Order: sequence, then C-alpha cells, then structure tokens
Amino acid sequence: MSKGRILSGMQPSGRFHLGNYLGALENWVKLQDEYECFFSIVDWHALTSSYEDTSKIPERIHEMAIDWLSAGLDPEKNVIFVQSHVKEHAELHLLLSMMTPLSWLERVPTYKDKLQQLGVQGKDINTYGFLGYPVLMTADIILYKADTIPVGEDQLPHLELSREMVRRFNNLYQPIFPEPKPNLSKSSILPGIDGRKMSKSYGNDIPFAASPDELRSRVRLMITDPQRIKRTDAGNPDVCTVFTFHKIFNGEQSIEIAQSCREATIGCVDCKKRLADKMVNDLAEMHVRRLALEANPGRVKEILVYGAERARKVAASTMEEVRQAMHLA
Ligand code: AMP
Ligand code: TRP
Repeated sequence: MSKGRILSGMQPSGRFHLGNYLGALENWVKLQDEYECFFSIVDWHALTSSYEDTSKIPERIHEMAIDWLSAGLDPEKNVIFVQSHVKEHAELHLLLSMMTPLSWLERVPTYKDKLQQLGVQGKDINTYGFLGYPVLMTADIILYKADTIPVGEDQLPHLELSREMVRRFNNLYQPIFPEPKPNLSKSSILPGIDGRKMSKSYGNDIPFAASPDELRSRVRLMITDPQRIKRTDAGNPDVCTVFTFHKIFNGEQSIEIAQSCREATIGCVDCKKRLADKMVNDLAEMHVRRLALEANPGRVKEILVYGAERARKVAASTMEEVRQAMHLA
C-alpha cells in the first residue's frame, strides 16, 4: 500500500518559538514515519508581506533549517528544501495565476484582514504578490501532487482555494492533480509568558533555540494567578500560565501540581522551577542536535542542496505533465 504524500511549508520570518514547535513541527516529526513528506522553507512567501528589506533572508533560512533538523526532521526520510531553489514553483504559479478568478482571491477571509492589520502598522501590501499568496501556496502543494497538508486552522481558507483551483485545472485541461486535504494538528494555541497567544510580535515567546539557562529565565517571567499574592494564598491553576505548561510537559503529574497550588502547599517559585526542570530535560536532546548543527553550517547547506535536488526531480516531472496538458510542451 502506498503512503499518502505530504507537503507543508513555513515562512522563514525569524525567531522560531515553542508555539511553532508544539503547534506544527512536533506533528511533522510524527508524520515523517507515516507519509512521504516534503517540507519547504517558503522564502518567496515571506516576500508577499515583507519585500522591502530582504537582507536577512539567507540567515533566516539557515536558522529555520537548524530549527527543523534539531526538532527531529530527518533529511533522509523527508525532502527538506527551500522554495526558491526549485524554480518550477514560479512557473506553476504563473500558469495557475492565468486561470484564477480575481474574485476567488479577494474573498479569502485572511486577505482583507491581513491587508488591514498590516496597513495599520504602516506596511503597504497592496500588491499583486500578496493577493496571489494562495496561488503560490497551491503551486507548492500540487507540484508534488501532495494529498495531505498539515497546517494550522488559519490556513484552512487557503487550502479550500487550492482545492477549487485543482478542480478547475483538472476540468479545463487534464485530471492530473489530487485534491489536497488538511491534516490539522491537534494541539491548541500555546500561550506566551504573558498569557496571550505566543507570538514573536508580542515579545512573549520562548525561542525554540533557547539554551537551558534562557529557558529557565523565561519560565521565571511567566505570569501566574494574579490573585495569589502571598505564598500562603491558595492559587487557581486554571488561570495560571505556568499550569498550562505543566499540563503540556508534565501530563498526569499536573493533577497533583494543581492540587498543591489550590492547597498552597507549593509556591509559585518552586512550581516554576519544577516546570523549567522538566522542559530543560524534555528539550535537551534537541538542544544537543542544535549545537552540533550550529557548529557545522556546511552540513546544513549540504542538506538543503540535497533536498532541492530531490524536490526538483519530482517538480520537473509534474511540470512536463502540466505543459503537455496545456499544449505548452
Ligand atoms: P507563524 O509563525 O505564525 O506563521 O506560524 C507557523 C506555524 O506555527 C503555524 O502552523 C501556526 O499554526 C503555528 N503556531 C504559531 N504560533 C503558535 C502558538 N502560539 N501556538 C500553537 N501554534 C502556533
Ligand atoms: N501559508 C503557510 C503559512 O504561512 C506557508 C505555506 C506556504 C504552506 N506554502 C504552503 C503551508 C504549502 C502548507 C502547504 O503558514
């Protein structure tokens, strides 16, 4: 029985954090044993909303590759590559753009939202490229004939559009492409140290690259139950960010931790220490892998070159079929 094929991507926008790991990468690492996987660092996508200063792109790609590899993605099992290294993405994007009605793009709910949101921050993304973002994403997916797409909930409207575009292509020319379906990661939104959604734009994140010492100091800054002022006050774990993390990292034992908080038999300082110890322990293996990769940038480069070669083979063969189907061969 042949496995399904996965493609997913992430923009190299800097500072990969624990929310990105738990919300996406951890799932990818599990999927790599069940599917044939393509994982792409989508640098062209990063330009759709940030095209002015491109100087940091190379270092961000390098950092993202280290994040993924240290999280446990295996470059032999998966094809790990940079989008712009495989020019076929651009060709397919162009062809798809010819058959995509403008109205489909304008009604993507994230389009107007983000346009407005970034406009407020003084960013002008009233561009052709930004409107076409889901077309580029569709090209990424169908170039590899991927049928299963691990994404967060925010990407569902884009995937819906991808399916519509696949149906349109298959009807107009030849039925070449499978309709991609989402694979939603089960974990919920991870809060940052201030209790809001962990996000690099809030400055409340725990960098995935944090050393054990940095991890401990971020945990010490986490907000706890604001009503619990004195050590002897009973706490409410349900409103405590530290407890949210205990549930993730300490599983069953978090029940006993919640009890101790409610009875004030454990103080916040010790509770945080217990969490930090567990996190440092659980992330230790990844940290060791990171240090090895950081010491060997040539190896990271090699892995991306190798990934691009493998991706290009599949992409070139799909493009042959596409050109045939469209009488452009
Ligand atoms: P972003 O960097 O926001 O584009 O997110 C990249 C991936 O990480 C997406 O799949 C998001 O759903 C996921 N992600 C980002 N922030 C969080 C968070 N705080 N909790 C869980 N998942 C997250
Ligand atoms: N749009 C996705 C995001 O911002 C990244 C992405 C680009 C992607 N191409 C993709 C995700 C293809 C899944 C499949 O998170």
